[in-house]
Amino acid sequence: MSGAARLLSDLKRRLSGVSRLRQYALAAPLPVTEEMSDIERLFWSNQGPVVHKWLDYLPLYDRYLAKYRGSDVKMLEIGVYKGGSLHLWREYLGPKATIFGIDINPDCASVNGIDGQVRIGSQADPEFLARVVREMGGVDVVLDDGSHIGRHIRASLDTLFPLLSDNGLYLIEDVHTAYSRRYDGRFSRHNFMRPLGRLTDDMHHWYHSGGQKIAATADHLLGPHIHDSLVVLEKGHKAPPAHIQVGGASIKTKAPAQAGRKTEADAQS
Ligand SMILES: C[S@@+](CC[C@H](N)C(=O)[O-])C[C@H]1O[C@@H](n2cnc3c(N)ncnc32)[C@H](O)[C@@H]1O
Repeated sequence: MSGAARLLSDLKRRLSGVSRLRQYALAAPLPVTEEMSDIERLFWSNQGPVVHKWLDYLPLYDRYLAKYRGSDVKMLEIGVYKGGSLHLWREYLGPKATIFGIDINPDCASVNGIDGQVRIGSQADPEFLARVVREMGGVDVVLDDGSHIGRHIRASLDTLFPLLSDNGLYLIEDVHTAYSRRYDGRFSRHNFMRPLGRLTDDMHHWYHSGGQKIAATADHLLGPHIHDSLVVLEKGHKAPPAHIQVGGASIKTKAPAQAGRKTEADAQS
């Protein structure tokens, strides 16, 4: 869609009173089919507490979390809401998983002990977060679906990423909210898209002189995976890079520095 067409359609949407995000809401749940994956089946057949997810997330959960199914993984979800996602994780990960949820809303205590443990506090409070992780006995997976405010996301990341086990995963949901004025807004310096860019620069610090700006992830970020609205940070020890050419057989090629550059012979032909 061209810029002008986008502006016009945005204007029409605003005049009709539909918010940008609401325009993408489905009118009714999809029927469960044979072709669906387990996570899709669990989601679409949910009769338990309300869970609210963007559809793109379901295959991504499978891609990143399937390896933990049936294990004693320790998962912490920021943002409990009605308890529906804790229910989904319990069904998906199985009975051996340790599942904790935190929320700032004291009403969420009412779902404590059903599918997981719920603790009340703010994701921006480092002491609270550290206390919860101590109680869990460590954490392998963090899923931030809390306030979606850049400074809060960052405060949780700074505290929890260092506490995450090696090879653990840190997921941040709904990062599209960074563009919304209800949260930070596209041009705010707290917009979480900015630290995301810095994380990428940090991971490549070997190749520039800017150093690593985000101490929490320094040398332990194996990959920032940026999907539509869902960011997955893989933790592990990042060894210094190294490279070498191996193999003896040779075919005639131009030296790499010359590739793409015209040789004298090319110019004359
Ligand atoms: C999007 S809802 C969570 C949805 C839930 N994970 C699900 O999938 O159904 C966001 C939740 O974050 C909570 N929240 C907002 N600010 C918070 C903060 N500073 N710390 C912890 N939780 C917060 C809200 O009370 C709300 O329940």
